[in-house]
Amino acid sequence: MPFADRQKRRDDGLPLAMIEGARHRAVTAAGPDKVHMPIDPIPLTARRNGPLRGTVGVPGDKSISIRALILGALAVGKTRIEGMLEGEDALNTAKALQELGAGIERSGERQWSIHGVGVGGFAEPGHALNFGNSGTGCRLTLGAVAGCPITATFDGDASLRSRPMQRVLDPLQRIGARTLASADGRLPLTLAGARDPLPIVFRPPVASAQLKSATLLAGLSAPGETVVIEAEPTRDHTEKMLAHFGAQVRVEAVPGEPAGGEAHNRGRRITLVGQPELNPQLVAVPADPSSAAFPLVAALLVPGSEVILNGVMMNPLRTGLLATLDEMGAAIERLDERNQGGEDVADLRIRASALRGVEVPAARAPSMIDEYPVLAVAAAFAEGTTVMRGLKELRVKESDRLAATAALLRENGVAVEIAGDDLIVEGNGRAPGGGLVTTHMDHRIAMAALVMGLASDKPVKIDDGTFIATSFPGFVELMRSLGADLS
Ligand code: S3P
Repeated sequence: MPFADRQKRRDDGLPLAMIEGARHRAVTAAGPDKVHMPIDPIPLTARRNGPLRGTVGVPGDKSISIRALILGALAVGKTRIEGMLEGEDALNTAKALQELGAGIERSGERQWSIHGVGVGGFAEPGHALNFGNSGTGCRLTLGAVAGCPITATFDGDASLRSRPMQRVLDPLQRIGARTLASADGRLPLTLAGARDPLPIVFRPPVASAQLKSATLLAGLSAPGETVVIEAEPTRDHTEKMLAHFGAQVRVEAVPGEPAGGEAHNRGRRITLVGQPELNPQLVAVPADPSSAAFPLVAALLVPGSEVILNGVMMNPLRTGLLATLDEMGAAIERLDERNQGGEDVADLRIRASALRGVEVPAARAPSMIDEYPVLAVAAAFAEGTTVMRGLKELRVKESDRLAATAALLRENGVAVEIAGDDLIVEGNGRAPGGGLVTTHMDHRIAMAALVMGLASDKPVKIDDGTFIATSFPGFVELMRSLGADLS
């Protein structure tokens, strides 16, 4: 069956089957629900095919969709989500929350409702929670469970099983949760939530919104104030959404503590008053800027293109890619800038542009952490060298994304180097292409490679496109509707 049909069947099937069909690729003894549906790899090829043109909307933001599900599950009563991402990461998170006792229904296209059980009200699940490929779903739910007096086992696919969890377990253990079983701080792991959670002051050792969010979600159950102090600000969706659901949250600027870097005032102290009653809300999910990045860069690179992307979230902690592309000379107009459900959004008009190489400072990394693979593709087509600094965190994403991004470019004839934690791309105004890219179960490597193939001299192939559905269901169809040749 062609990729589009298989993806469509899955897109149709998953929500209608009330997330029971959410695919888990992990080989776990997850229990009685028999949700394991092994999916064969689907190779894809992208090739040049005239300009990209049209107006499209990309799916809802993954970070906000997952947080809305979790906070909806922790509120008392019925939360509604509009524009939810119906990708596998969100669906797997929904399924886990259902197993923790929340009622979850799909009432229409991208419209979901959650019947929450209240802070501390999760029920002990009968078998392992399987988050598939979703680091955000898993880590944030670990936080939410850590403040409940229940024991739960967390698992995921081979990619998620390889990712570090100890960094999240450290603050959760200080709050009072106990890790009962874990291979080397990785999944599968069993967490016993705290009976008497303690409020803590936590300084994340790495810039990570997942770490911050897990700690705040655990702190919901603790009496008094839980404080997270970030040296570099990361996406602020959790603190904003907690306030939206009625929790008392204070955010203050604090001096950063640079190790050998310049002093700055970008740090943030986030204080959450524990044990609130969260009130159910309506959450309107804007389009995901991290998904928009793929058609956006494709439109910049394919000569003659003009594309409009509707309603893309412009939260300043997510717009590092736009800032960088602006510096590279990209023609991107922000149209009809507005506020939607508490977030800034805009329609983006993108015209094909000649780009030049730039230096991307390490301080910008948190605001574009998921965008480096596709920025590296843009850099290959720019004139001159692009240096992307401070990418250590990319090594622990869905794949070792630093290595996978370098391999993607090298495989397609682009000169690239990893120097310490920096990625250096020698742009040449064009790229030979012709490579077969190994995607390592990483949706963003898959999409970045396909974007490269739309503009390179020879087609680019990927070994497996199925993981694209974790964050961007309908990617192939959307790109084809703009005129892309993906087969
Ligand atoms: C996310 C945070 C980031 C990002 C991920 C989504 C979130 O991870 O890479 O795709 O929703 O909090 P880290 O917090 O590990 O940097």
